[in-house]
Amino acid sequence: MMSPIESRTVHPGATISGELQVPGDKSISHRVAMLGGIASGESSIGGFLASEDCLNTLRAMRVLGAEVDISENGSVNIRGVADNPSSPSAPVNLGNSGTGMRLLTGLLSGYAVTAELTGDASLCSRPMGRIRDPLQQMGARIDLTRDGTAPLIIHGGSLHAISYALPVASAQVKSAVLLAGLHAKGETVVVEPVETRDHTERLLLNLGVELEIDGLTIRLKGCGEDGLRINGGDWFVPGDISSAAFWITAAAAREGNKLVVRNVGLNPRRTAIIDVLRRMGADIEVLAREGGNVFEPYGDVTVRGSALRGTEVGGKEIPNLIDELPLVAVAAALAEGETVIRDAAELRVKESDRITCMVKNLRVLGVDVEERPDGMVVRGPARLLGGSVRSFGDHRVAMALTVLALFGSEKVRVEDVECIQTSYPRFWTDLERVGGSVEGR
Ligand code: S3P
Repeated sequence: MMSPIESRTVHPGATISGELQVPGDKSISHRVAMLGGIASGESSIGGFLASEDCLNTLRAMRVLGAEVDISENGSVNIRGVADNPSSPSAPVNLGNSGTGMRLLTGLLSGYAVTAELTGDASLCSRPMGRIRDPLQQMGARIDLTRDGTAPLIIHGGSLHAISYALPVASAQVKSAVLLAGLHAKGETVVVEPVETRDHTERLLLNLGVELEIDGLTIRLKGCGEDGLRINGGDWFVPGDISSAAFWITAAAAREGNKLVVRNVGLNPRRTAIIDVLRRMGADIEVLAREGGNVFEPYGDVTVRGSALRGTEVGGKEIPNLIDELPLVAVAAALAEGETVIRDAAELRVKESDRITCMVKNLRVLGVDVEERPDGMVVRGPARLLGGSVRSFGDHRVAMALTVLALFGSEKVRVEDVECIQTSYPRFWTDLERVGGSVEGR
C-alpha cells in the first residue's frame, strides 16, 4: 500500500525570534562517516547529522565492514575497516544523496572491490557520467545505465594519478577524484573552474594526508601500493549553514524579528547566503568562535529583520550558495524590486529541477517570476496568495516554500514534505521553536 503523502499547513504572520542551534552540517557528516569508516581505529563524531542521507552513508560504511554505533545523544562512534573494505554482497542504497553516492564511488574506486550503488528515483535520475569519466581515467571501471545514471557498479583497484580540470564546478566531483586519489600511484591534481566547498580537503589535511592547495589547484599524494595509513579522529560537526539559512532568511525579511543561530558552520565557501542577504539590506552579525574539536570555522549568527530589496546573483558566487538558491528566490519574492539569479543551470540536476519546481510553486503563490535556462528573475514584493504548493520530493524546495508561507496573509499547504527527513529531521520542531506554527501530518 502506498503511504499517504505527508503535508503541513503553514500559518502566516509569525514573528521569527529567539535562539537556536541547527543540526550538524550534512556535507561534513558524510565525509567524516566515510573517512572514519575507512580509517584505522576509532573515530568519535559529535554533532553528526542523523538525517536519512547521512544515516544511509553510515549504513554503507557498515556494509563495507565498519562498526558503527549511534548513541542517543546523537554522537557516532566508528571503528574503521583499516583500509580493507569488503565487497558488498547486495546493492548499497544511498537513498536521495548525491554526496553519498558520488563520494563513495570515488573512495571505493581505489580498492579491489566490486560494489553496486543505487538510490531513490531522484538520485537514479541524476548525472553520474561526471564522476565516471575521471575515475575511469584513473583506472577504475564504473558501469552506468544507458542514460549515464545509477544504479552504478564500481570495479575498483590499481589506480594511477591524473591531472583533472573539472568541467563543472562541483565539490562532489572534486571530492570523488580526491578520494580515489588517496589510493592512486602518484600525485593527483584537480583544478577547479571556481572555488567550491572544501570540506574534503580540510578533513584530509586534518587526517594528515599530504595535500596542497594553491588557488584553484589541489594536489594530493596517493599511497599507491603502500596502503593508506590514516587513523580515525575525534571530531565535532558544526551546525549546517544550509539549514540555518531557512531561519536566517525568515528572520531577515520582516521588521521586528530577531534571531540568533549558535554554533553554525561558517566555512567561507558556504556563507555566500549571508553576503547575498546583506546585499538585499539584511542586518546580520557574525561572531566567530574557536576550539572544541571543530576543524572548520564556526560561530553565531544574529539577524534583525528589515525590509529587503532585490539583487543579482551569479558567477563565482553560485557554487557557494548552490543549495540556498531556492531560498534566495523566496527572499526575492519578499523584496522590493527585481532579483536575477543567473549561471545556476546546475540547479536543474539537483534533487529536483530546482528552477522549474520553484518557478511553478512561486507562481501558485502569486509571485511574479520568469524562468530562465540558468536561473530566474523574480519581481517583488509579492502579494502572496494562499493555496497548495508541492515539494516534488525535494527537501530544500519544501523548506524554502515553508519559509515563504510565513509571509502571506492566508494559510499555505506544503505537500510532499517527508523528503525533509533527508537533511533536517527536526525542521518542524525548529520552526515552532523560532515562532512559526503549522498544522497537519
Ligand atoms: C555537496 C556539494 C554540492 C551541494 C550538495 C552537497 C557536497 O553539490 O549541492 O548538496 O557535500 O559536496 P555539487 O558539488 O555537485 O554542486
